[in-house]
Amino acid sequence: MTTYLKTTALSTRGAHTLPGEDYTSASIFAGEHERIFARSWLCIGREDSVAVAGRYTMVNVGRESLLVVRDRRGAIHALFNVCRHRGSRLCEEPCGDIGETIQCPYHAWTYGLDGRLVGVPDQKELEDFDKGDYGLARARVATWEGFVFVNLDEEAEPFEVAWAPMLQRVSAWGIAGLKSAARITYDVRANWKLLFQNYSECYHCSPLHPSLVKLSPPTSGENDLVEGPFLGGFMIVSQEGGSLTKSGASCGLPVSPGLPEAERQRVYYYSLFPNMLLSLHHDYVMVHTFEPVAPDRTRIACEFLFNPGSLENPAFEPEDGVAFWDTVNREDWHICEQTQLGVSSSRYRPGPYSRRESLSAAFDRHYKNVMDQSAGQ
Ligand code: FES
Ligand SMILES: [Fe+2]
Repeated sequence: MTTYLKTTALSTRGAHTLPGEDYTSASIFAGEHERIFARSWLCIGREDSVAVAGRYTMVNVGRESLLVVRDRRGAIHALFNVCRHRGSRLCEEPCGDIGETIQCPYHAWTYGLDGRLVGVPDQKELEDFDKGDYGLARARVATWEGFVFVNLDEEAEPFEVAWAPMLQRVSAWGIAGLKSAARITYDVRANWKLLFQNYSECYHCSPLHPSLVKLSPPTSGENDLVEGPFLGGFMIVSQEGGSLTKSGASCGLPVSPGLPEAERQRVYYYSLFPNMLLSLHHDYVMVHTFEPVAPDRTRIACEFLFNPGSLENPAFEPEDGVAFWDTVNREDWHICEQTQLGVSSSRYRPGPYSRRESLSAAFDRHYKNVMDQSAGQ
């Protein structure tokens, strides 16, 4: 039995927002890469993005570039985009089809889709050389609910251990079987932590999101995950059978026939450290993934997943939900950009969190724990 707590039932213990340098310093940003992003399981998108053998998608993690590719046997690999000859990048385009092999554009060393080195022009001129020693470096790969995750750290906990609290939590939505109907990317001039803090509270909803508060009371939040890497819970949709859409009506079939009736008046919001936000509606699932590019810049992909039966209906209008959230998202990105500018000021001082922001404070605690624990490792 899951226990839910009102957001305001959680003490913020006098918590204040993070110091300005956490949002602006190049060295803290580099430290976050080493301690967080190079060690954590990162969601990089849907398995569908590498649906067939030879299709790849490029993923950037700090200065690292990975090619996520499916081989002929159906296995997904995350290969470092670094030739084992003289280090050239192998691919430049963010996605594409590479056919049977990956060939370096420089001297045409050729790799299999599993990263093995399979061809070297004029190999006899390489002395004491064994192709078996020069496969591409690889990151670890896991899949969950149709999402692909990578981890650059060979020593990191297995995905099933690190994500244990989430593994079964959202099974009722049948996310693995959903299909993407829209994907929007944003380039936001704000630190990635400001985006997490913003997602984690609805104190800002009344001043910032008039269209959202009409459909969902901003104090209706109750949370089942209140400490640690995974945070969140649900909010209520007021109109019976309604959803978060421009029209206020649902915009697709229920995501899963197994979704209990009681869940249909709720939207669940989970922030999944360090780069994923998962928003579960009864008629669609919205997922955000983040790529921090600089202390003051984050690339965001926002994808909308629907019951495949909805996509087959000629009258299906995913735009009703997609456009609703595109508006709300842009309101959030804009205020985060304004906050980025404010926290960069010489006069910014950490301010007090309200109990209505208890999950934002919990995000900060987890962030600080991870940064402190891994310091010096
Ligand atoms: S650098 Fe790739 S083949 Fe030479
Ligand atoms: Fe918001």
